[in-house]
Amino acid sequence: MNVTDAIKTRRAHRSLEPVEITEETIRDLAYHAGLSPSCNNNQPWRFVFVRDPSQLSKIHAVLPPHNKWMELASMIIVVFSRPGEDCVVKERIYNQFDTGMATAFLILRATELGLVAHPVAGYNEEAVKQTLGIPENYQIITLVNVGRHSDKIHPYLSESLAARERERPARYPFEKYAFLDRYAAPPQPPSR
Ligand SMILES: Cc1cc2nc3c(=O)[nH]c(=O)nc-3n(C[C@H](O)[C@H](O)[C@H](O)COP(=O)(O)O)c2cc1C
Repeated sequence: MNVTDAIKTRRAHRSLEPVEITEETIRDLAYHAGLSPSCNNNQPWRFVFVRDPSQLSKIHAVLPPHNKWMELASMIIVVFSRPGEDCVVKERIYNQFDTGMATAFLILRATELGLVAHPVAGYNEEAVKQTLGIPENYQIITLVNVGRHSDKIHPYLSESLAARERERPARYPFEKYAFLDRYAAPPQPPSR
């Protein structure tokens, strides 16, 4: 699979079915994430690959209702980092940016391996830290849910989430987020 195929194939699917996750797969995903660029090569990303059912069930126990589908994941990758381990340039704090890029690499590699790798922001950060022994001064940036995409839409999903399972949510047009040579502010609605 080439890069454009991986980018186009990747989806945040929620209807997942079980898949065996070997240590080889985990090392492969970590390796590809680790090749990501980072400020001064600081490599601030940290991952806990959670496969153990008893550890997973502790994360499940504190999920918000809209993310109950995460119980279908065969592995949850807990992604965390802290500012002290990366560049800080005035107001620009790079650990989250660099960790996000590494996570994107990981997600694309998982896609190439035929897996779904779905990041979320909806979880109980304190409870996850406690369960996994992650120190207080780290910030958990996302949980990536890994599984195999199921053709059957899972009954956990609301109608709106089921619709997103069938079709990728729309993206903004080029003009909304991309500019040629110079930024152009969007037209303002006429004032009354
Ligand atoms: C930072 C971040 C947080 C997200 N949080 C959630 C979440 O809590 N629950 C969820 O079901 N999906 C979550 N998503 C998935 C997005 O809803 C999804 O990526 C978006 O709707 C676009 O769909 P696509 O990835 O299939 O193209 C999150 C994605 C990102 C990148």
